[in-house]
Amino acid sequence: MNCLSPSILASDFSKLGSQVELLDRAGAQYVHIDIMDGMFVPSISMGFPVMKSIRPLTDRIFDVHLMIQEPERYINEFVDAGADLLTVHAEACTNLERTIQKIKEKGIIAGVAIKPSTPVEQIAGVLKEVDMVLVMMVNPGFGGQKLIPGTIDKVWELKQMINEMGLETDIEVDGGVTLDNVGKVMDAGANIVVAGSAIFHGDVEDNVRQFLSYMSE
Ligand code: DX5
Ligand code: ZN
Repeated sequence: MNCLSPSILASDFSKLGSQVELLDRAGAQYVHIDIMDGMFVPSISMGFPVMKSIRPLTDRIFDVHLMIQEPERYINEFVDAGADLLTVHAEACTNLERTIQKIKEKGIIAGVAIKPSTPVEQIAGVLKEVDMVLVMMVNPGFGGQKLIPGTIDKVWELKQMINEMGLETDIEVDGGVTLDNVGKVMDAGANIVVAGSAIFHGDVEDNVRQFLSYMSE
């Protein structure tokens, strides 16, 4: 199934609650929550209290993208804060398999993410274990960047790998996705689309609807 996951990193934090409700009303299936620790990526974004405060506002899937070093340390806390899907970076884990196992033991959806410079082969060994692979289309750390064209080829490669292994792993694309390039990334094999700045400008509800109608074609 194709799903839209608006990134609240690009939202107006002074009215975060009503913006989350707006996403829900407009039909976005996921809410993408970017967690940054100032170590794995230069910036620091938000944490447990923010997640907990918006959790009662929607039943949509909380798609939590952990851009933090050694995420294994915080899995329990993120599940308690309301995560339905936890994605960890392959580059940030000392023992990726154990980290994924720990997420699955909590009974939620497990994802693995790769940066633009990380080859898809690096996650071949855990592909059978995860429900989703997040392919970064920009270098993680900030919203509003331009999609790096070469990353689309990686989505193709990954899709091929998934098919060859007889799996049905979801592919999420994150970073620089707009209405102009969403068709291309979906043709390459992505079925979960993160969009931040392309959603949170002008009429947010209308932007969500436009993405959704494009994605259902
Ligand atoms: C980047 C984040 C993305 C980002 C997406 O480090 O992981 O989720 O917020 O924002 P846009 O769509 O503006 O690139
Ligand atoms: Zn993200």
